[in-house]
Amino acid sequence: MDKLTVRDVPVRGKRVLVRVDFNVPLDKERGAVTDDTRIKESLPTIRYLMDNGARVVLMSHLGRPDGKVVGSLRMGGVAKRLSELLGKPVRTVADCIGPEVEKAVGQLQAGEVVLLENIRFHAEEEKNDAAFSQALARLGDVFVNDAFGTTHRAHASTVGVTRYLPSVAGLLVEKELKALGQALEEPARPFAALVGGAKISDKMGVVGNILKKLDLLLIGGGMAATFLKVKGLEVGGSLVEVDRIVWAEKMMREAEESRVRLLLPVDFVVSEKPDGSAPSQTVRANAIPARSLVVDIGPETVKSFSAELRKCKTVLWNGPMGIFEVPGFASGTRAMAELLAGLNATTIVGGGSTAEAVVNMGLKDRMTHVSTGGGASLTFLEGETLPGVAALQDKK
Ligand code: 3PG
Repeated sequence: MDKLTVRDVPVRGKRVLVRVDFNVPLDKERGAVTDDTRIKESLPTIRYLMDNGARVVLMSHLGRPDGKVVGSLRMGGVAKRLSELLGKPVRTVADCIGPEVEKAVGQLQAGEVVLLENIRFHAEEEKNDAAFSQALARLGDVFVNDAFGTTHRAHASTVGVTRYLPSVAGLLVEKELKALGQALEEPARPFAALVGGAKISDKMGVVGNILKKLDLLLIGGGMAATFLKVKGLEVGGSLVEVDRIVWAEKMMREAEESRVRLLLPVDFVVSEKPDGSAPSQTVRANAIPARSLVVDIGPETVKSFSAELRKCKTVLWNGPMGIFEVPGFASGTRAMAELLAGLNATTIVGGGSTAEAVVNMGLKDRMTHVSTGGGASLTFLEGETLPGVAALQDKK
């Protein structure tokens, strides 16, 4: 990575302002954290700073409160979980800027940690407002961005603040960029991408950017329906993005020209309802009934995708194979997750719902890398700049 990291700057005795991505799911009634993956992934940077005598000031957004104080989106539950994980107290404050917060930060001792209140309670955060950025910058001597999941946002806490403080990457940002970058730049071959999800429009940028680097492209999930249309097949009530059929056709042509094998499902689980309230059945890809929609890949597809993936040395997975949130439609996603977990290959899982599936299935630790960023990992894989990374200081 060509950016300075937290290891490259002196931190002892300094107030280090760290942007983390603690945008984690909470239990609605108790406000407790229900998936602490993102908090755990930020521990190496926080521990590094504590161990090296920094005074650690953490800031994050939580949800989308749209510039208003929303009681259920306060950071208390997150601070509690972080404190349990660190085995040390984590202080909280009532806001993220202002004299009271500056005072609390001023009283921090070396190795102590404070977590500021949700920065999106201020509308100025998402507007990347200069005065708000300066108010945040007053809380640190150095800025560390470790919020990989928010690096695709040009907000005050990711970009604005870098105008006022020496700014470097945290260890999670470094790890994510290395893992995702290596997969694209120097993959062990054969290199496959397994792409799914409901909508083709969400994955066009990624497929377009990586297609020519691949040996094999496997397409599952609801988005496969648009590709079936190109082949003249009927897809019943499945979502087809009509304006994307031409694009799908172009991808199929480009794959052929570049000798990338592109495989589509040969069978599907279909149902008349996406929520599991109607019966489902398995059908061949050329026999989808008129009123049914695709809810998962079928067992024959699982078999053929698995046989292909077993031959690969690098696999990039982005997008579930079906509506995995409905237990009856999770088999394809589960089978692919289990297969990847057992491969003797580099396995990279994009963030968002794919990461959620892998974490829920308890398979995260058996993958080479599971990204903490949904939108951020997509932006990176699309070959686009991440503003939160671009704003950090270069190594030279
Ligand atoms: C995420 O969960 O993808 C990040 O925390 C960014 O959140 P946002 O989409 O609300 O900006």
